[in-house]
Amino acid sequence: MSSQFPSDRADDPTTLDLALDLALDLTFDYVPLDEVGDGQRWSTWLAVEPLSRGPEPRPDWVVTSQAAVDTELGILKTGKEADAFLLERAVPGSDRLGESVVMVAKRYRGEDHRDFHRSAAYTEGRRVRNTRDARAMAKGTAHGRSVAASQWAWSEWQALVRCRELGLPVPYPVQIDGTEILMEWITVDGETAPRLAQTRPAGDLLASYFEQLREAMGVLARAGLAHGDLSPYNVLAAGERLAIIDLPQVVDLVANPAGADFLLRDCVNVCTWFRARGLDVDADALFAELLGEMF
Ligand SMILES: Nc1ncnc2c1ncn2[C@@H]1O[C@H](COP(=O)(O)OP(=O)(O)O)[C@@H](O)[C@H]1O
Ligand SMILES: [Mg+2]
Repeated sequence: MSSQFPSDRADDPTTLDLALDLALDLTFDYVPLDEVGDGQRWSTWLAVEPLSRGPEPRPDWVVTSQAAVDTELGILKTGKEADAFLLERAVPGSDRLGESVVMVAKRYRGEDHRDFHRSAAYTEGRRVRNTRDARAMAKGTAHGRSVAASQWAWSEWQALVRCRELGLPVPYPVQIDGTEILMEWITVDGETAPRLAQTRPAGDLLASYFEQLREAMGVLARAGLAHGDLSPYNVLAAGERLAIIDLPQVVDLVANPAGADFLLRDCVNVCTWFRARGLDVDADALFAELLGEMF
């Protein structure tokens, strides 16, 4: 009688392949018993490298528990290169500080949106090491687009961490995992903070907002950096304080030959809005002041 895996047939390739296929199927079909629900995943906090987690000091609201579950709460805003979602990370059943928080998940798209319209000029001076990746990016292949998406995500992550270290008002960067950045959700009264462009500040508040941006741009310039896409659309108004967002294209003013152009454009975007609101500010004066801070 033949047993299920007779030893005299172990070298029969057909039987062996079948056995292997079966083993692989078993491996890939394995589903843990305590699977999470739709729109959920286990917290990815412990799955990412230490360098992919936010800098110390870590705010007390960051959830680090292995028991935490991530739940999609819905889309905040779709953009050209990335979409912003709200994501809850919580230990099931808990709403305690440090065990439950809502964050923004900014996810760069690798597939459909091939035009990273600002790529070329911004990345001058930055290099793609792997030549296969460089060729794929140049050709706009699917692989190239996903490499580009990861690079923009990593670039924004580094900018957030750097800005945080410089003491700038940016959302706290919680973690990066491939093309997804998790960061602090900037709110007013529990709602997403409006973009500066949607607000109508006047008087002292208007002046204070401008001073906050001028100060932040000064800190960046002294570090040899410019935001590169600063405008009232990439600044959130959280009550009396502003938060600066959308930093993947932060520009190195020294290495990038077009650095000064980006800085000037930031100054024009900011000053144009404040002038329209009635504040007597001047883009050329701000630009000159910031260039002066650099050297
Ligand atoms: N940390 C955050 N807190 C609150 N809202 C945010 C945050 N990050 C992004 N948003 C919202 O999502 C929008 C798009 O984010 P942004 O980083 O500017 O990406 P995009 O490249 O699509 O412009 C913002 O205008 C803002 O309304
Ligand atoms: Mg933006």
